[in-house]
Amino acid sequence: MTYETIEVHPIAGALGAEISGLDLTTLGNQSFSELHQAFLDHRVLYFKDQPLDDEQLEELTMRFGPFGDTPFVEGMPGHPNIIEVRKDADETSTHNFGGRWHSDFSFQEAPPSATFLSARVTPEAGGDTMFADMYGAYDALSDGMKELLTGRNAMHSGQRSYGTKGRFAKDPNITRMAIRPSEEGDVETPHPIVRTHPETGRKALFINQVYTVRLEDMTEAESKPILDFLNAHSTRPEFTCRIRWNENGLAIWDNRCTQHYAINDYHGHARLMHRTTCAGDRPV
Ligand code: SIN
Repeated sequence: MTYETIEVHPIAGALGAEISGLDLTTLGNQSFSELHQAFLDHRVLYFKDQPLDDEQLEELTMRFGPFGDTPFVEGMPGHPNIIEVRKDADETSTHNFGGRWHSDFSFQEAPPSATFLSARVTPEAGGDTMFADMYGAYDALSDGMKELLTGRNAMHSGQRSYGTKGRFAKDPNITRMAIRPSEEGDVETPHPIVRTHPETGRKALFINQVYTVRLEDMTEAESKPILDFLNAHSTRPEFTCRIRWNENGLAIWDNRCTQHYAINDYHGHARLMHRTTCAGDRPV
């Protein structure tokens, strides 16, 4: 793809690109259309210096589509579609928000298509976010494994995080974020293990270690060896890229074909991000 109004610099072999040469607060139609194409082509976009206020973050999100529904985490006062992803300098828990491989809210019937993360406070070092390419992970499977998985569903649930026995219910002090676990978190929703991206038509693995709890019609124990393999396979280093955040950095990623992991390696330092999502389709 040739881009005429934006600069696109891939950051890893598998996925991810840094975008420059544009101001996200004054995006014309041509630049938006190229940006959207770059989003589909590279799955994860990073912008180094885009100081967006909350209204501008909302406007940018809505250019991509209507807001997604954000359960279990309270929105910001006056901005119900923005959540704070926050860790204060004196928090030392080994659990941070997003600190395991996952695709955002994959337990929803129609999980978000895209997530927007705007960096407000960043540690001097650490607090990077890693991403994994679920197209690449699917493509690299053997024909036999692809055949075994195609047409099968896996069950996704918020139970390990937001359910009545999840980690936020067991220990509400593991984060100061406004997280409200409930019985709704225990519900299981089936999604195809191999999904077809609604815009690109490409096939992607759609499982993750946080929300995918078992294969449909199988027990957790029976499913574990298969899920363990798929989780390890899909996050192999060659399928990943890593964003080193700076203040006013912004990332946009496609949850339909990626996973991500917020690295918790900055104890003693604060990190604050403002996060929105766009609504997605039911995976098929
Ligand atoms: C998330 O999982 O949505 C947050 C990722 C991050 O804080 O880097």
